[in-house]
Amino acid sequence: MSGFPDPLVGPRVRLRAFVPADAAMARELSTDPYVPRTGSLPAHADAAQAAAWVRRQQGRLAEGAGYSFALEVGGRAVGQCGLWFAGAERFTVGYAVVPGARGQGLAAEALGLLVGFAWTHPAARTVEALVEPWNTASLRTLARAGFTRVGATTHPIGGEERDVEVWVVRR
Ligand SMILES: CC(C)(COP(=O)(O)OP(=O)(O)OC[C@H]1O[C@@H](n2cnc3c(N)ncnc32)[C@H](O)[C@@H]1OP(=O)(O)O)[C@@H](O)C(=O)NCCC(=O)NCCS
Repeated sequence: MSGFPDPLVGPRVRLRAFVPADAAMARELSTDPYVPRTGSLPAHADAAQAAAWVRRQQGRLAEGAGYSFALEVGGRAVGQCGLWFAGAERFTVGYAVVPGARGQGLAAEALGLLVGFAWTHPAARTVEALVEPWNTASLRTLARAGFTRVGATTHPIGGEERDVEVWVVRR
């Protein structure tokens, strides 16, 4: 496993390792009704919960889960995205933008950077996303980032087995 990369830089978005100051962004993210269902960030996180979530992101690579990036625009953290190991040839992705920074297509740009980084892993062949069918913003984000829908399955989200669409991009 390689180490955490230098920041991944796009026209507007910069993906970098988490720092403790990102707890403020985590608190904003935790006000979204859906984000807390998709991971370990508690809803309406307090300062300690947000700081603990940031520390968990900082530990994701060491624990073998994958790369968790803070998504930054103009020097301000506005989201999180992850490139997660899912076998020798496959990664999965996850992404979220704080409510106040949505509507600018930032997640699609971040996904483009994640996919480019995935292909620096010689064995990687596929990057996959699982998205609930109602999540239009996420589905459009995937399409914009070059993913295509390949099927459907179920996946545990928020403690429930949910219907999800499977979208992939291949090397
Ligand atoms: C998914 C998410 C990261 C996208 O954030 P973003 O980059 O700011 O996305 P935008 O708001 O710019 O929207 C992207 C596209 O979806 C469209 N869209 C956004 N909200 C929409 C809605 N409610 N209904 C229909 N279309 C919508 C936008 O018009 C845009 O379309 P375009 O690419 O054709 O211009 C953000 O909504 C989020 O953090 N959601 C909560 C977490 C989440 O669902 N993550 C994904 C889990 S699979």
